Amino acid sequence: MNPGDVVDAVVEAPVVTSFTRLGFGIRRRLEHWTPLESYDLSGRVIVLTGATSGLGRAAATQLARCGATLVLVGRNPDRNDSVVAEMIDATGNDAITQIAADMGDYGQVRALAERVLADHALLDVLIHNAGALTSDRREAPDGTEATVASQVVGPFLLTGLLLDRLAASAPSRVLTMSSGGMYTAKLTVSGLQMSARDYKGAEQYARAKRAQVALNEEWAARFGHTGIHFHALHPGWADTPGVDASLPTFSKVMGPLLRTADQGADTLAWLAADEAALESNGIFWLDRRPRSTHKLRSTRTSDTPERRDRLWAWVTDTAGHEPSLPDATGST
Ligand SMILES: NC(=O)c1ccc[n+]([C@@H]2O[C@H](COP(=O)([O-])OP(=O)(O)OC[C@H]3O[C@@H](n4cnc5c(N)ncnc54)[C@H](OP(=O)(O)O)[C@@H]3O)[C@@H](O)[C@H]2O)c1
Repeated sequence: MNPGDVVDAVVEAPVVTSFTRLGFGIRRRLEHWTPLESYDLSGRVIVLTGATSGLGRAAATQLARCGATLVLVGRNPDRNDSVVAEMIDATGNDAITQIAADMGDYGQVRALAERVLADHALLDVLIHNAGALTSDRREAPDGTEATVASQVVGPFLLTGLLLDRLAASAPSRVLTMSSGGMYTAKLTVSGLQMSARDYKGAEQYARAKRAQVALNEEWAARFGHTGIHFHALHPGWADTPGVDASLPTFSKVMGPLLRTADQGADTLAWLAADEAALESNGIFWLDRRPRSTHKLRSTRTSDTPERRDRLWAWVTDTAGHEPSLPDATGST
């Protein structure tokens, strides 16, 4: 182990150092990270959901500064337009457009995919970052619980619809912003959607985030051979409008220790930019390093191949889409 590995292991063990700005600061200094602004991403096409606020907005701004061609996704077209105008103004990069879509509305996700395919001959990076923790139970238009619809099924559908274009653009990347909250959750298919009777926002969110991480590995196992690199990550704990709204007490208590949005978004932007993302597949990251997907025995034993197969089958069925690629003869 080199000294950096030793210090990283010490920082990683207690969640409070690892997830806060302390962990970020120590790792960045010790490991001499390449500054994000040194990457040249001219001509790289990146679609990023949840780009109007918090981490997504910070990552998009960082990527815009590197010259990327960006498609920003949020639910409200007017809000999206304002963010695009402000980002062009702040970065001088005018290759930024927006498409409005609610990731929990599969009709809108299909329309989003059609627009991306029509507008961009290549797609280098697809980033699933949109997400929220909601204290009251809501349902998506198809009746699926809204956290699961917008953070599990919708992103799955979008990746599936863009799979062919991502493969044609290989090496390409699909990045999913999960959460350290998923460390507390078992992988469950029958309990993925909490009922109105037992609903707890933080628990529902953790279950959806666990499913995202399992699916990331499944995508890599099933489609990694095409040159698409699938990665999931968590940002630590960052001060964003989302955290402020969903966890106000946590936000107040942890205030000075929370990462800035730029710090929370760093690994997301880095995975979109750096060649390191092309050297592996199906990995879970924090602070530019691969991390374990389990910290508890109970969650590890829940995460079986059989349960993953059932999750894949359930998401496929709910999305109404079976991911596949045309073979050499043109059939699927
Ligand atoms: N901040 C943290 O400490 C933290 C920790 C762990 C994980 N995360 C994850 O990081 C991601 C970003 O969180 P954040 O803290 O930056 O939150 P945020 O400030 O609330 O931003 C959330 C973004 O997601 C978009 N969004 C939400 N629901 C959507 C939907 N159904 N369809 C399309 N877009 C949707 C919002 O856009 P509009 O409202 O404009 O549609 C907004 O741009 C989330 O996946 C979150 O779970 C954050």
